[in-house]
Amino acid sequence: MSRVRASSAPAPKGLKRPVKVCVRVRPVLEREVENGCYHGCIAMAHERVYISTEDKPVLIGSKDDPPPEGVKVYPGFDGLLDQDSSQEDCFQVAGRETVDGVLWGLNGALMAYGQTSTGKTHTMVGDKSRPGLCLKAAAHLFSEAGLLGSQIEVTASFLQLYLNHITDLLVKDGHEKKLKLREVVEEDFVDTRVEGLSSRPVKSMDDVEALLEEGNRRRQQACTALNASSSRSHAVLILNVTLWQGGTEEENATDAKLYLVDLAGSERVKDSCATGDRLTEAVHINKSLFALQGVVAALADGNPFVPYRNDPLTQLLRPALGGNCCTTLVATVSPAQKPLGERVRVVLAGELQRRQGLAAPLPKPKRKRHSRESEGTLNFASSCRRIKGEVFVNSVRKPRPWEEKPKEEPTKTEEPECPWASLAALDAASVMESQMLDTAHGQIHVLTCGPADGEAVLLLHGCPSDAWTWKWLFPPLLYSKYRAIAIDMPGFGSSPGTRLGSRSELNNAKGGPLDICCAVLDALGVQKANVVGYDWGAGIALSMALLRKTRVNKIVPFHPSYSPPKGENLGVMPVPVLVLWVKEDQFHNLTKWRKHFQALPSSKRELEVYSLGSRWKPGMSLGSDPQLGPQLQRRILAFLAGEVAAPVAGALEKRLEAKAATAAGQLVVHAQNVVVADALADAGDVAKQLREVADPTLAAVQQFKEFPGEYAWMNMDGWLWRSVAVGLWSAGRLAALYAQRLTGSSASSAALFGALPEMSPEALSDPNILVNLGLWSQAPEGWERMRHTPRYCVGRKVLVRQKVIFKPSDSDFMCVSSSGADRTTSKAELKGKSKENADTWLVEVTEAGGSRRMAEVPKAEVLRLNQRHDLAKNGKHVLLEDGLKCDYSSPLCRAKLCEIALALSPVVKNLDFNTADGGEAVQLKALEVIRKCLDIITFQKGLDRGRSCATCDDVAKMACHGQGHCHTVSSTMAAFLFPFAQVLGLDVKYRGGYSWGGVNMGEPADETVEVADSPERHQWLEVTLRPSLQSYVCDLWVADAVGNDALKWPISEAYQNRLYPNGSFNIGQQSCPEEATDLDLPEL
Ligand SMILES: Nc1ncnc2c1ncn2[C@@H]1O[C@H](COP(=O)(O)OP(=O)(O)OP(=O)(O)O)[C@@H](O)[C@H]1O
Ligand SMILES: [Mg+2]
Repeated sequence: MSRVRASSAPAPKGLKRPVKVCVRVRPVLEREVENGCYHGCIAMAHERVYISTEDKPVLIGSKDDPPPEGVKVYPGFDGLLDQDSSQEDCFQVAGRETVDGVLWGLNGALMAYGQTSTGKTHTMVGDKSRPGLCLKAAAHLFSEAGLLGSQIEVTASFLQLYLNHITDLLVKDGHEKKLKLREVVEEDFVDTRVEGLSSRPVKSMDDVEALLEEGNRRRQQACTALNASSSRSHAVLILNVTLWQGGTEEENATDAKLYLVDLAGSERVKDSCATGDRLTEAVHINKSLFALQGVVAALADGNPFVPYRNDPLTQLLRPALGGNCCTTLVATVSPAQKPLGERVRVVLAGELQRRQGLAAPLPKPKRKRHSRESEGTLNFASSCRRIKGEVFVNSVRKPRPWEEKPKEEPTKTEEPECPWASLAALDAASVMESQMLDTAHGQIHVLTCGPADGEAVLLLHGCPSDAWTWKWLFPPLLYSKYRAIAIDMPGFGSSPGTRLGSRSELNNAKGGPLDICCAVLDALGVQKANVVGYDWGAGIALSMALLRKTRVNKIVPFHPSYSPPKGENLGVMPVPVLVLWVKEDQFHNLTKWRKHFQALPSSKRELEVYSLGSRWKPGMSLGSDPQLGPQLQRRILAFLAGEVAAPVAGALEKRLEAKAATAAGQLVVHAQNVVVADALADAGDVAKQLREVADPTLAAVQQFKEFPGEYAWMNMDGWLWRSVAVGLWSAGRLAALYAQRLTGSSASSAALFGALPEMSPEALSDPNILVNLGLWSQAPEGWERMRHTPRYCVGRKVLVRQKVIFKPSDSDFMCVSSSGADRTTSKAELKGKSKENADTWLVEVTEAGGSRRMAEVPKAEVLRLNQRHDLAKNGKHVLLEDGLKCDYSSPLCRAKLCEIALALSPVVKNLDFNTADGGEAVQLKALEVIRKCLDIITFQKGLDRGRSCATCDDVAKMACHGQGHCHTVSSTMAAFLFPFAQVLGLDVKYRGGYSWGGVNMGEPADETVEVADSPERHQWLEVTLRPSLQSYVCDLWVADAVGNDALKWPISEAYQNRLYPNGSFNIGQQSCPEEATDLDLPEL
């Protein structure tokens, strides 16, 4: 198993901490009411938990009110579930992220922790009508895998930890066998296994339910004074989940464990009145929970030593606790006070007296035990939230389940019999004529069959072998009336002579393979032939098609052993080529050869990849395999006959499994990029339909809109959106077309995408254009008015160059100070222009200490630093940072922009520039929507920025499964944001500068760094909204690390200790000229 750092892999968005904590308070139980307990001692509001530490219910005011006396406040949990929360609520709030993480390949646990009788078993297990997290998690695994189109394999084990011993709950009399724990050290990760623990495959929810019921029957439970069915053991259901990504043929899978843990609850022995067995149990339970607290405390404090081995419980849960996990703890608390003891009754009597107006002073009640216990639970929960760690995706290479079990495959069943089957039964020798030909290059042995006037098919063997290896192809060729000619190269088979070298550059040598082939054709009186070759023979076929064009019709290279020598350029291949591959054949590496395949002209090439699974053996005759053989025969005949290949809809294969190392030398594998094999699914149809209509642009938009719901996910929120998106994307037709464009080989995507409207920044000058195209349902209200609002008026915050304090540690950072250095500051506000000189503007700047004063700045400087940018151009290409380019007329760009326009449509419906905020909220939402439409992965650290360019310099491709650093991602966003800038009222600037501190917006900056004014080590966009003229930083790189807030980061926050916008130069982009209506400044 290999692990990929989740922070380097395209990690689940919401994964901020390895352990998430939710608090659940259960309803008051009837028993408690009957016993006259206090309740309402716990309340949840304003994202906090309030606990009464005295004998009164909690009353909560507004969020900002100080907590009432006698109430303790616990803020900062990840989810709160009050007494009305259903089991489904509980799963959505507490369970879902973890299960999604497991699908992603992260180990995780769902764990209920709390005092006895607070609802742990209810939360984890529930009952028939109210199933708990165990069943809901399993259901989610199955349904999500289905949604992603992925293959899932789940096996389950179920154990209990009772009195310090682990026993198997899925085995009859399992309690008699104490199982041992074993630690397995894998590089920097320690896994724990339970030796001898049984595991069962579970394929459906019925399996899971049956297994849970069986295990729970065997689990230790007992009636105590505090809980009629108290769990006396910790129970752990372990689901091992293997997931093969949807749509791919690859064997890459993620493998993760999900621990579903129902802990036994701690109890005060005095209260539970435990004696005998119950007492022994309680002691062990409390001891292991104490060990758990110790481990969590050590992890939270970052102690190098974590005492996992203090107890089997902590040892067992190690993989789901130690930081490399996505675990959720549900801390359960009871809202009810303990059964009334004598002391409480006294207090109640006092309360009664007071209510009745008696003046007797109340004794100050002591802190109730109840609150102490709930506080204990919440303190523990809070410390869990402090666990830090780096999370790894577990990836494995595993054959898919059906490949492991070939017997279960519906193998030979419905294959119709080949019409040439009867010929195949004939002895090949009786079909083939063997003859020794006298050729210009000496004697060559050939096998021939079929009519002398039939279209010739030259069959060239691999090295070393002979013409007879083609016997599997003789019957179909004979049946289809081709003239098959299988050649024994000199020195091979029955041909005399010296063997020729098999390297590609020798193919065209004098007397070499090409000469021999032509000599054989001459000797047989054949002018042109189709050439089918295997390995060496396949290489000869390629050379022959390039260098002896007049002799070749079509070629079928099967596993070509060929790299183009000097003078052979696959890009000018004149004839159709069908490349065949069996991917398991280790001796012929498709990944390596793929670049040669890509070099062939897209209109001429076809690739068919077959899989034999575990049936592949070294040296086997592939064509003679009972299942593969007929498939190969049919495919070759269809190609030779010019039939269009059957659509391979959704056949996805990996692109760019790029490996790179971070600066720290850790391996990063990006394997998210997928392309569709060259499937020509519906090429003819699309092109034809578009040709026949009056307005192909509108028809193309209409067709594009019909991809059912494929851009719907763009508006979907949630931490796993990328994963889901990839799944849906991979499954859809739109994705298939994008992928075809990426490989540049599909007629259908060319026809459809090419017919879509071109939406460059110049072309989209008015939102009604989008409405007329049918992409937007309506134009934003008040757009015309917004367009004519001034850009420079009193009160606008602007960037200017001033002498400022430039010490990140100083609270006056970037404030104006005569002792400072010239820097860009955003702490300036436009006030007017000078009476004497209209080109001198007055801004109010903030001085150290907070006071304000006027400063004069040249108008040109304000414009240079604040005016929206124009993208530089070279011919039809817009030029972006790091050598990236954008051609708005390219089919891929048209399609991406259409997709974005459609995704924006429901948002823009709410855009009204006349509202009080000028539509700001909608404009900011639009930024998020556009970002979501870009399917690009951001490298977070340590990777060479140039790498993305080595892969590709086209932002359109980047937006369809690309990857890059901040420059690449900012450039891609810029390219797709600029066209919508005018219609959305956005002035976009491409900023370069310096960032320091952690990427996390909440983390303190690294104050030790002193930055010169010139470096530009980070890039982002800055967007000024019209008409509000509020400016925001849109930092794609930070947003990918911490979430969308960084896409709409007010400049006052972003430029305070986080980012420094260099103002001494603009990077590559031009400031737009000002417009007539831009200035509205009074003379001062
Ligand atoms: N959210 C809830 N809604 C309704 N009933 C609940 C809820 N939570 C718990 N209960 C009920 O409270 C009682 C005690 O719950 P449960 O047995 O789950 O507690 P526990 O924390 O597992 O206790 P122990 O540590 O003793 O095993 C049960 O009768 C259960 O049905
Ligand atoms: Mg229980």
